Amino acid sequence: MTDPGGPPVRVDLPATRPVAGGAVAALDGVALVTIDRPSTLNALSSDVLRGIADACRRLDADDACRAIVFTGAGTRAFAAGADIAEMAAETAAGLAASGRFDDWDAIRRIRKPTIAAVRGYALGGGLELAMSCDMLILGEDAKLGQPEIKLGILPGAGGTQQLTRAAGRARAIELILTGRVIDAAEADRIGIATRVVPAAEVLDAALDLAATIASMPPLAVRTAKESVRLAEEVPLSVGIRHERQLFYMLFGTDDKAEGMRAFLEKREPTWRGR
Ligand code: COA
Repeated sequence: MTDPGGPPVRVDLPATRPVAGGAVAALDGVALVTIDRPSTLNALSSDVLRGIADACRRLDADDACRAIVFTGAGTRAFAAGADIAEMAAETAAGLAASGRFDDWDAIRRIRKPTIAAVRGYALGGGLELAMSCDMLILGEDAKLGQPEIKLGILPGAGGTQQLTRAAGRARAIELILTGRVIDAAEADRIGIATRVVPAAEVLDAALDLAATIASMPPLAVRTAKESVRLAEEVPLSVGIRHERQLFYMLFGTDDKAEGMRAFLEKREPTWRGR
């Protein structure tokens, strides 16, 4: 298979999808970020990672973007991990001096809600990228794993931390120490997935979910995400105190007044994002 020749990461804002009659419909507020290197099963070369991180920085600052879906081109892979051909020549010093982990930090810091739409392989950095997202929609054909151990390394883009938080230590450590690849049903059972859908429906399901979230009041979405993500980092009492501050803050917004007024007046609300 050859790659299409354009940039290795494509960004569509708004995302579109085909509708009856050959037309396309724009999904208001939804961005689609596509890793487009199918010849390597969308391996995450430094160019690809930079493209994803740049897209995250740009979309996070763009008010027109309210939710982001990440996907891989083709049907075989979301992403089959870091580019092994590139990594084979890498040294510890070179890795430390590269911007690779700045890019990973930018991906993980994004404040807009993110959804991974996963068909086929999500291995190594591909699974780490999917787990960096807030939600994972898996196709029934998804194959997930952290096979780095077989290359003499470990998951270095958050995998040991994210998988342990999602699946628990006993399950995560087995997967990380053996490199075993699991299917969508097992991923769902151990708590990695938001939902498993038929393979051909993955992107539509992720875009639908993103469109639903994009239709919600943006400040409430942003603060709710912030609060949920904080739960992975701080003790319960600190998380609850922070949640309460965010709750008070939302009581000062136009959207809170509008949302409650619209409910009482039995009409649809109009969100202003303030
Ligand atoms: N980095 C670079 N190239 C990769 C890659 C990666 N992580 N994963 C796949 N590719 C390339 C293959 O080298 C191959 O290229 P070629 O056609 O020029 O030979 C192409 O993608 C297709 O992969 P191939 O291995 O032929 O497909 P397969 O169906 O036999 O196996 C996998 C699929 C995913 C099981 C296998 O490609 C694999 O194990 N990849 C590496 C996964 C990994 O260890 N990721 C963690 C990296 S830290």
